[in-house]
Amino acid sequence: MYEGVDLSRVPRHVAIIMDGNGRWANARGLHRTQGHAAGEPALFDVIDGALEMGVKWLTAYTFSTENWSRDEYEVEFLMHFNVDLLQRRRDELHAKGIRIHFIGDRNDPRVPDDLRKRIEDAEELTRGNEAMHMVFAFNYGGRNEIVAAVGEIAAKVRAGNIEPEDIDAGTIAAHLYLPEMPDPDLVIRTSGELRTSNYLLWESAYSEYVFTPVLWPDFDRHTLAECIVEYQSRNRRFGSAEDLSVPPRRGGTDSPAGDRD
Ligand code: IPE
Ligand code: IPE
Ligand code: MG
Repeated sequence: MYEGVDLSRVPRHVAIIMDGNGRWANARGLHRTQGHAAGEPALFDVIDGALEMGVKWLTAYTFSTENWSRDEYEVEFLMHFNVDLLQRRRDELHAKGIRIHFIGDRNDPRVPDDLRKRIEDAEELTRGNEAMHMVFAFNYGGRNEIVAAVGEIAAKVRAGNIEPEDIDAGTIAAHLYLPEMPDPDLVIRTSGELRTSNYLLWESAYSEYVFTPVLWPDFDRHTLAECIVEYQSRNRRFGSAEDLSVPPRRGGTDSPAGDRD
């Protein structure tokens, strides 16, 4: 089924930049938004594949802090699409034992109230699930995430709860949107673009990157498996001279990867 994948060594956390929906649609004479709609079955096939292969954390970039600069119609479509998707798919994810999380600025006044409510409901409903964690990076920006963490830490310093000299990488990691999320082992970007576009800047310090030319709506569990095979061919050294198959702990300056589920 998953040709070539060593199921005893699947990455614990796979983070995906789902890119190329607009180009997929353009190539078919469709509107960009139809490309986003075509990306939904791709995502849900990838979720099923990840679950079957034993990935414990899957993160998908659904809307960046920079995506507000798109035209009003596309932004509105994407907001509504997220509401609709949660409404239609939440119970299915719950039935599979998947825990839903959102990272990003959900309190931004531009985020519609009904979406904020559905996000909270989905997180609450699935809180006890353990089969896999599905993280939606929505209104997410890596720089904003670090800025928010620094702000919270500064407030604690002012209140006298943290001494400035005690701040280290672990302090920042503990104030990110989802502190229990392990760092991604593998970051995949589709559509041939070779950049991070502000995705998981802190968390991906030691991630392996796989870039594929496949446009997101054409991606599925099999392309995911190919990316995992590529990941498994890499030596992860974390700055040492040897291949370290078990990543060290997250947070500290010498500890780029997570050790939690
Ligand atoms: C990714 O596809 C989806 C979102 C950013 C929401 P794009 O819409 O960026 O597609 P391209 O890159 O224009 O083809
Ligand atoms: C990154 O893709 C954001 C998401 C996939 C949600 P973009 O298409 O927005 O990134 P750029 O503009 O090509 O850097
Ligand atoms: Mg794009």
